[in-house]
Amino acid sequence: MNSRIALAAGLALAALTTEIATAETVWLDQLDVRTASQGWGEPQKNKSVGGNALSIGGKTFEHGFGTHAESILHINLGGGAQSFAASVGVDDEVGGNRAASVEFIVVGDGRELWKSGVLHAGDAAKDCAVNLSGVKLLTLKVGDADDGNSYDHADWGDAKFETDGAKTFVASGEEMPEPVAPYILTPPAPATPRINGADVFGVRPGSPFLFTIPATGERPMKFSAKNLPDGLKLDAKTGRITGALKKQGEFVVTLRAKNILGKAEKSFRIVCGDQIALTPPMGWNSWNCFAHAVSADRVKRAADALVKSGLVNHGWTYINIDDFWENHRDSNDPTLHGDFRDAKGFVVPNSRFPDMKGLADYVHGLGLKIGLYSSPGPWTCGGCTGSFQHEAQDAQTYAQWGFDYLKYDWCSYGSIADGKQATDSSIPSWSEGKGKSDIEVAIYPYRLMGKFLHEQKRDIVFSLCQYGMSDVWNWGGSVNGQSWRTTGDITDTWRSMSDIGFKQDKAAPLAKPGNWNDPDMLIVGEVGWGKTHPTRLTTDEQYTHISLWCLLSAPLLIGCDMEKFDDFTLSLLSNDEVLAIDQDALGKEAMCAINHDTVRIYKKDLADGGHAIGFFNLGAQPVDLSFNEFAPLGLAGRQHVRDLWRQKNLADVDTLAGSLPLTIPAHGVLLYKFKAAK
Ligand code: GAL
Repeated sequence: MNSRIALAAGLALAALTTEIATAETVWLDQLDVRTASQGWGEPQKNKSVGGNALSIGGKTFEHGFGTHAESILHINLGGGAQSFAASVGVDDEVGGNRAASVEFIVVGDGRELWKSGVLHAGDAAKDCAVNLSGVKLLTLKVGDADDGNSYDHADWGDAKFETDGAKTFVASGEEMPEPVAPYILTPPAPATPRINGADVFGVRPGSPFLFTIPATGERPMKFSAKNLPDGLKLDAKTGRITGALKKQGEFVVTLRAKNILGKAEKSFRIVCGDQIALTPPMGWNSWNCFAHAVSADRVKRAADALVKSGLVNHGWTYINIDDFWENHRDSNDPTLHGDFRDAKGFVVPNSRFPDMKGLADYVHGLGLKIGLYSSPGPWTCGGCTGSFQHEAQDAQTYAQWGFDYLKYDWCSYGSIADGKQATDSSIPSWSEGKGKSDIEVAIYPYRLMGKFLHEQKRDIVFSLCQYGMSDVWNWGGSVNGQSWRTTGDITDTWRSMSDIGFKQDKAAPLAKPGNWNDPDMLIVGEVGWGKTHPTRLTTDEQYTHISLWCLLSAPLLIGCDMEKFDDFTLSLLSNDEVLAIDQDALGKEAMCAINHDTVRIYKKDLADGGHAIGFFNLGAQPVDLSFNEFAPLGLAGRQHVRDLWRQKNLADVDTLAGSLPLTIPAHGVLLYKFKAAK
């Protein structure tokens, strides 16, 4: 190389400048590709997103950019590049996984210059060659080919520019909002009693009943209930209702709470029938913080933290153990070594979980519920033992231990569906297999486990986790599922959260009490899959995340280390008027009603005839609106308007002649409730 390349840090954060003195080849990896935004993992230079040598269809590349859909990298060329070339495709590290399907797109000054078409794992690298003369801003994008971004490890192999002399290239990600320090909108709960949480609760006849009345206010507090049906009793000190109901029926109960400062009451409907989870489950799951490093001790501490933080008083209930409570097939970690099953075939937890029943008792003793995780295949996604051919035994075991929730992942079942033997040691922990194309194959393992769970004399919420394959929202309820993931895994980036959250309309009409679409767990607080860090979402992105998930009637599963709560994160998770939107008894899921430029407006109908409306701004600059498009939101006449985050009434609006002034923060939201004025 006979040219000089000087790298200097630019003023823009993390942007690097490359100066080129003469006509020259400039490799993409000479720019700072770390500024790219992407849907999973970290952008990598000369490596795949998984940290391996770049390899597409068996061919390796010394240079390049390893990323993950959806991915965006801008390069300011200032008109100084002649051409761009690369060999693109899915990285071989995903092991032929058909779930991996991506599309590479090259955009110059807002105009599409080249598109790869959909590429799958194992496909040969596709060559891209683009003329850039005159182009100032180049954008390299990788889309998820409209099927979610599971396993979308994407490589721009040997990506390079030909330039015409001394020029400055700057790589940057999407335009991002100016950082804003955390600001708390949720007003503190009053010291007088207030009963929060859902207005309705489902239970099956004969199943053990456990419901803790979520109430804020100074302790001690005394609880009582009017018209509690036979079979149930209330502990006046703790507010826990336990027992069992013999027969089907609906019971309208008045819950009461009293402390030295005052009293509160609330009407509460207990529905004894076949449906459970009549409102979306709320709780915590170990995956997004502890991942493979979960232990019984950490789970107990999480349960303690849920109580100590006061979140239990806002309706948060489940403490769910994700993968890695079972023994592992080949881990180096000795705490995961041991028998998978006993002589009779019952599952044996790993040494970090010496007493599953004791753990469940501990969690129940706090008035909370407990969940766990398995897979229909021989192995879980993390490589621990799964339920294959032991489904009935596992369902029985979970019930005997006293578990209340099962997350059932797909994982190695894809290989079984494709006819591989469970004993074949080469089967990968994860493969989609025929689950994607053959609906009967997709349904089968869930129908099986759904039936066994339903046979237990215990209500076990069945949460399907197969990323939306075969449009699970159309059949998840028919296999006794209460919720189902609609997407691949979330991560704590704006790209990931917004790509998932704003693409739920297809499944939305299928949500109803007892049947919830699950866009994956929450990513606020200290998250990090085994090594935690503060969420990378900005303050307003976090308001967007919680508001959107509540509008979507999503199961709300906190994914952070709850021993590390800060005041801001707690305020996001304890706004009762916001949570009430998620828990609304009508069980409708919001859909996008208005889509203009960067603005998305979501509407959710509520049980009291009101409407929750989320005004979202996907852009990097604040948006000012004088809003008057009330008809598409189904709003007529004079409407009361309430700001739910601030818990404040705004001026009424006349939907015929009036308008609503809105300033929506960048990547932020205003969440309002509208109710027709009488
Ligand atoms: C994934 C699942 C994650 C987590 C993980 C455990 O497939 O989507 O939420 O459960 O498996 O290995």
